[in-house]
Amino acid sequence: MSDWTEGYVTDVGYIFGYYRELSPLHAKIALHDCNVACPEVQTACELGFGQGMSINIHAAASKTQWYGTDFIPQQADFARQMAKASGADAHIFNDSFEAFAQRKDLPDFDFIGLHGIWSWISNNNRRIIVDFIKKKLKPGGVLYVSYNTLPGWADFVSMRHLMTRYMADMTSPRQNRLEQISGCVDFLDNFLATNPLFAQINPFVRIRMQRIHGGDTHYLAHEYFNRDWLPMHFADMARWLQDTKLDYVCSARYLSHINQFYINIEQENFLNSIQNPVFRETMRDFMVNCQFRLDYWVKGVRELSKREKEEWLQTQRYILIVPQSDITLKVDGTQGSIDLDPELYNPILELMADYRPRTLHQIEEEIQKDSITFSQLYQAIIVLLGKAYIEPVQEEESIAQVKFQTMQLNSFLCQQALTHNGIGSLASPLTGGGIYIDLIVQLFVKASQQGKSEPQQWAEYAWQQLSAVGRQVIKDGKLLESSEENLAELRVRAEEFAQKRLPILKGLGIA
Ligand SMILES: C[S@@+](CC[C@H](N)C(=O)[O-])C[C@H]1O[C@@H](n2cnc3c(N)ncnc32)[C@H](O)[C@@H]1O
Repeated sequence: MSDWTEGYVTDVGYIFGYYRELSPLHAKIALHDCNVACPEVQTACELGFGQGMSINIHAAASKTQWYGTDFIPQQADFARQMAKASGADAHIFNDSFEAFAQRKDLPDFDFIGLHGIWSWISNNNRRIIVDFIKKKLKPGGVLYVSYNTLPGWADFVSMRHLMTRYMADMTSPRQNRLEQISGCVDFLDNFLATNPLFAQINPFVRIRMQRIHGGDTHYLAHEYFNRDWLPMHFADMARWLQDTKLDYVCSARYLSHINQFYINIEQENFLNSIQNPVFRETMRDFMVNCQFRLDYWVKGVRELSKREKEEWLQTQRYILIVPQSDITLKVDGTQGSIDLDPELYNPILELMADYRPRTLHQIEEEIQKDSITFSQLYQAIIVLLGKAYIEPVQEEESIAQVKFQTMQLNSFLCQQALTHNGIGSLASPLTGGGIYIDLIVQLFVKASQQGKSEPQQWAEYAWQQLSAVGRQVIKDGKLLESSEENLAELRVRAEEFAQKRLPILKGLGIA
């Protein structure tokens, strides 16, 4: 019998993550910020969609036609259920990358995305994916790819070697995978407790082990326990893509576009002295000890004309997606914690606190502050996007078209979240993407959609739903035991929801 898993962990389901970097609108902002044109994304493809949260949220919340594959059948099945529930134009396959690449029923794509795939597959699969991109990405099309990066993982390469050896040499085939993983973590803890010279010279290893302790075991299984695991330098990634006609444009992390948060002037000057852009970017990763890259590449980069840029600035709208109380005017980059100027940011945030979409020019007009220039305002918007305090908004016509689909998908997700741990995002017809919303808030949204208007009623509804599936509220890391305790906590959260979250979710077209 052939091994279809190719050494990938397929007996433990993956987490239900949503990644906004896979949204074509997110890509458009990043590219335009670098003065690079972005195609109108009509067809898009996600390779290795995991549980399928991102592909389904993007398919339901935008007009883009999405295609994607993941070879774990349970995951593809869940992704198909989501697509069926939303009724969106999503084509979900359960093929290996190899089989998917051979399909004759796929269109060419304006956007291809793969998140958390590249480092965890074999060279053969990397070759298959590169050939697929070469063949199926349209000229002008965008590639989004994220991967574990060197030098950030250099110290842990040897720890991961020990993990692989432990699994091969020290586990019993009778144990299930999660037991083997927890045995491996205990073993490495005991090893570090002996204070090996390796850990003294590489102190970050202990910090990473602490993070492993706090992590979800399903995530751990997929991060560390596949046969293949290969962090890569940027220059090597560029070599992999060299025959695809793709050029690197920028990071999908907006904050990375602003040097001041990550490198100092001396480092910036040093980097500017390097002519070769690939080598420069590789050196930048050493400046910031980069561990994970999330990048946009374009097939045939075209500079945005002045007219296109102006039109974009005139029309692109943004919406605030967090309450004021969640906002801190700081950016924590590799240059330490940098304060943001309250004179610049507070007027913008106060204006946007009515949770209505606005263009940059509207914001400029409405705050009416002579002391704030348009370029300061523009930079502030990029920073607020980077901190995920605001999101871009799509055109009215798209919003109207996707409203029903997002409502259908959200209703399905709220139902599933009761029994699937970790479904923490819903789709917004305004942003064309997902918004982080925890289970309790999802239940409050459902209650308010059913016509219940008082926080007391939302709390009762949430407790009814939770207790029916044997779940309890977690407060300060502890499960609340009695009905009274659960209800009391839910009432507090329902009041907070009424004041802080409901207006936002209404603005986002979710509640
Ligand atoms: C680390 S997970 C990332 C999932 C998803 N992109 C996310 O970030 O939530 C990698 C995914 O790739 C899928 N995968 C790995 N090798 C594959 C292959 N050869 N063909 C198709 N899917 C594959 C796995 O089933 C898994 O769901």
